[in-house]
Amino acid sequence: MRAGEKWVLGIIAALGLFAVGKSLWQMGLPRNQDPGIPFYSTATPELARNGSDLYRSLGCKDCHTLWTVRNMFESVPAPALDGIGSLRDEAWFYAYFSAPDPQAILPSRLKKQYRMPSYVQLPEQDRRTLAAYMASLKVKDWYLMETRKAEHEKLTGKP
Ligand code: HEC
Repeated sequence: MRAGEKWVLGIIAALGLFAVGKSLWQMGLPRNQDPGIPFYSTATPELARNGSDLYRSLGCKDCHTLWTVRNMFESVPAPALDGIGSLRDEAWFYAYFSAPDPQAILPSRLKKQYRMPSYVQLPEQDRRTLAAYMASLKVKDWYLMETRKAEHEKLTGKP
């Protein structure tokens, strides 16, 4: 091998090492991670169980989406409840569920049969459980604006 060839081979080897080294170094760096699901609940296991039992037995999912679940056969444009506890607090939910006319608290743009029903007839304990459960449904800060926008759009029909 002549001296010139050695040089060329040396440079190729050095470039190769550099490329491998660089990609190894990059693998170790934190990347743009998938931020994951923004919704979570702060409910104790007991509240989560009692709350979702009520939620199911009262047919809330006929109109609302929660944890991406809703009744496929209904198409009421009600707000999704994921993250709702970051937009409103427990006292508000309790007052809303206890109102004989919920639309006096939150106006509706929908026909009567699609509106939020009154749950004033429900035992007080159940209304308290539902309110606490709703208040536990949180959204992470980075998705709060999106959640607010989606809620506004459902309530008003406008973007
Ligand atoms: C007949 C359909 C229907 C059913 C059943 C229903 N909702 Fe609603 N709900 C709505 C609609 C529609 C709204 C938006 C206000 C309106 O149009 O009256 C709403 C609003 C709400 C809000 C306020 C959301 C916001 O944007 O602040 C909460 C909380 C809520 N519902 C929880 C529940 C819970 C819990 C149940 C079951 C106990 C339930 N809903 C059952 C239709 C329904």
